[in-house]
Amino acid sequence: LWTSANIIEDSIAAIREQVGDDEVLLGLSGGVDSSVVAALLHKAIGDQLTCVFVDNGLLRQNEGDQVMAMFAKHMGIRVIRADAEDRFLNALEGIDDPEQKRKIIGNKFVDIFDEEAAKLKNVKWLAQGTIYPDVIESAAAKTGKAHVIKTHHNVGGLPEHMKLKLVEPLRELFKDEVRKLGVELGLPSDMVYRHPFPGPGLGVRILGEVKKEFADLLRKADQIFIAELRKHDLYDKTSQAFAVFLPVKSVGVMGDGRRYDYVVSLRAVETIDFMTARWANLPYDFLDLVSRRIINETAGISRVVYDISGKPPATIEWE
Ligand code: XMP
Repeated sequence: LWTSANIIEDSIAAIREQVGDDEVLLGLSGGVDSSVVAALLHKAIGDQLTCVFVDNGLLRQNEGDQVMAMFAKHMGIRVIRADAEDRFLNALEGIDDPEQKRKIIGNKFVDIFDEEAAKLKNVKWLAQGTIYPDVIESAAAKTGKAHVIKTHHNVGGLPEHMKLKLVEPLRELFKDEVRKLGVELGLPSDMVYRHPFPGPGLGVRILGEVKKEFADLLRKADQIFIAELRKHDLYDKTSQAFAVFLPVKSVGVMGDGRRYDYVVSLRAVETIDFMTARWANLPYDFLDLVSRRIINETAGISRVVYDISGKPPATIEWE
């Protein structure tokens, strides 16, 4: 029978058979796929698993702490946290081209992951959260048909002496099956059903050059938007929602004073496959509330706009 419990039982047996007594390394992003792999491997092989979590300074509010609390503290999984905010921000200094930013973030990620991995002596396996659609996409990429290709941890970039073999327990599963496994494995449902978050993180939601000041402002605005979506029961009705930082200033008034501060755009979409999307028809009263909260609570932001562009022609992310 094809139930989550059975899939877990079979996977655990298969993982144990595959890796034996060897040590396994996993790059944990906090996203659904790598989180489910972490929970599954921990259940199968316990302390033979070590995860590396790279904090690139482009995560959402408290995200790094939440990932550590959840996996290391709550589940007792061995997680190494690499605090690399400065290294990412330094590498991004003066860079405003979106594709260049993506490349720099991806490469830095691989560098830091590899450095942490190289410190582990006995690891023989690299676990990855590859799911069935990724397998199809990679196959399509070889024939030049893929539209979106996820940047995975580059196995080829790992230190030469490691020569890791791959363990990919979700390879035959679709996203909804992975989510069900996550719930069955005891991961909180609000983390299993989280909106997708791009690998380059806030790096592609801060238009142009990335600065810490901008990331901090964006985190605050984004957190308010997401918290209100959840509170108003709208989070699960949208496929993806977030705030975007626009590095332009506009004039405003506050009390007797004049403000000259930055602009944030709210983006919320409904979609099945993320290849096409409609902007979410959020209630005006709700948008009004979010806008007021962001402007009142975030010194440095004085204007909020709502993105009413569909995909196509616009993409979901702004960069
Ligand atoms: P776009 O902006 O292309 O986004 O309409 C479609 C979906 O893909 C996500 N996305 C990314 N995910 N690395 C990722 O891992 C990226 O560079 C990237 N760019 C976009 C986006 O969040 C949306 O869910």
